[in-house]
Amino acid sequence: METIKTDVAIIGAGGAGLRAAIALAEADPKIRIALISKVYPMRSHTCAAEGGAAGVIKADDSFEQHFHDTVGGGDWLCDQDAVEYFIHEAPKELTQLEHWGCPWNREPDGSVAVRPFGGMKIQRTWFAADKSGFHILHTLFQTSLQYPNIQRFDEYYATDLMVDDGRCQGFTAIEMKTGQMRRFQAGAVVIAGGGAGRIFPFNTNGAIKTGDGMALAYRAGAPLKDMEFVQYHPTGLPNTGTLLTEACRAEGGVLLNKDGYRFLQDYGMGPETPLGKPELKTMELGPRDRVSQSIWHEIQKGRAAKTPWGDCVWLDMRHLGEKTINERLPFVRDICISYLGIDPVAEMVPIRPVAHYMMGGIHTDINAATSVPGLFAAGECACVSINGANRLGSNSLVEILVFGHRAGLSALDYARGQKPGNDAALSTQGEAAQAKLRALFTRNIGKESISGLRKEMTDTMGEGAGIYRTQEGLTETCDKLADLRRRYADVALHDKTNVYNTDLLSALELGSMLDCAEAVAVSGLERKESRGAHQRLDFTARDDSKYLKHSMAYYHPTEPPRIDYRDVVITTSPPGVRDYSGAKK
Ligand code: FUM
Repeated sequence: METIKTDVAIIGAGGAGLRAAIALAEADPKIRIALISKVYPMRSHTCAAEGGAAGVIKADDSFEQHFHDTVGGGDWLCDQDAVEYFIHEAPKELTQLEHWGCPWNREPDGSVAVRPFGGMKIQRTWFAADKSGFHILHTLFQTSLQYPNIQRFDEYYATDLMVDDGRCQGFTAIEMKTGQMRRFQAGAVVIAGGGAGRIFPFNTNGAIKTGDGMALAYRAGAPLKDMEFVQYHPTGLPNTGTLLTEACRAEGGVLLNKDGYRFLQDYGMGPETPLGKPELKTMELGPRDRVSQSIWHEIQKGRAAKTPWGDCVWLDMRHLGEKTINERLPFVRDICISYLGIDPVAEMVPIRPVAHYMMGGIHTDINAATSVPGLFAAGECACVSINGANRLGSNSLVEILVFGHRAGLSALDYARGQKPGNDAALSTQGEAAQAKLRALFTRNIGKESISGLRKEMTDTMGEGAGIYRTQEGLTETCDKLADLRRRYADVALHDKTNVYNTDLLSALELGSMLDCAEAVAVSGLERKESRGAHQRLDFTARDDSKYLKHSMAYYHPTEPPRIDYRDVVITTSPPGVRDYSGAKK
């Protein structure tokens, strides 16, 4: 098997992976950096982010305010030392992007413009119309091209980490174009593989978001932290799940039930505010967990509109006018017209909550180090944790920059101190990974189909592990997932060819998703309280006495994960009440 020797290898070339690669290349033009991605970098899911990225820049804002919005928004499950680091680094990273050419929107005086965002009680979200992720990714990608020591391996799928002598020393990956397996031997590895939103039936995520990075680390012994916390974005297009950015509401769009009533005022997010003037602390700019949960209740109460795509509430942007919509929300207008045949300039848009983002992921410390020496992680696949039980919109585009950067530098520090690996031992691991893959090809056609198992997985996740959960529903989902993991051993591979074998890739991705889904459901079953995005109908209150803790899921090849707990880091903000009522203090 061909071996590629490198100093640091990065899995994933979206925002976090590219930022890590640039940090490494800038730190040392001599080191070798291998950047592996299962898609061409500009197809990474960062591209789909719309609304913007949060960082303190305006005179009326402060680090303290960003800290409190993030920690309170996360229902006090954030590690506050990580949040401190994050909020201070955020403006530096966003300014750096500006210098690399990111076309942030401007105020009339030429300074960078910011917009409000959900749960942020001050305007601090930098944006590039409603294509912020596209512009960030493009800026990072074009910057990475300046560095000859970043060697890209596009359309490679990493299958197994190689851990020898107690440290991660690389991984095996399939080159999709040829079907050949390669061994990447490295002094340190960074995983930046994104989230696993595709484990849910209705989601905003691109088809590539199958939790491969999380599963790689998990199987190699790194625990997955806080996996039960899955964010539902309030405004998904009801047929495709496509995101309609929170910026629709930041610009003044409102949510109405079937009677044309702004129902959020009934869910602790009032008082009602004049149209076109979003009140920063309340109503449509409440945090995502609360807004999605309110829509769920409105639907249960029969106050949703009946549409061809099911029960929905309305997003009304008509009062914003065509000029504002074209300037600030052009992509939203395009999406609504293309996928629903509805022009938001003239009509209300039906929406419903949609699985969007995973607060949980590979456990890392503040330096992006996992518990496997030599293995680092950043971005949605990681849990550092700045998002706690509910991420605030526009913190994640900054998280990929701040912790992508940190992961790159930490990996470099680590790699510099290492002796070369043991070629023979790593070669044996590479052969074992190859043999596992061959077995998939040579086994008799299994009786289980990839799409069949995937559908059963997403169905059970939607039913048992959605916005509201119960002991009974989660137990059924856990049992079902255990069964699906057993049946996965019998999955059929019909395509036995080597070149771009998408059948093989789908089978491998399904394996990753099943592992991640089980970690979500079992962690959710064990957390008998309601906090942030994890809401239990049978344990409706937050229980700090028992659960002011991170859950840690440990992989087992044939059994459900073992769940353990870890203390949350509290520095200056003891747990309090989340208040979005707009009441004067
Ligand atoms: O609504 C949005 O534009 C999504 C942003 C985010 O997830 O941070």
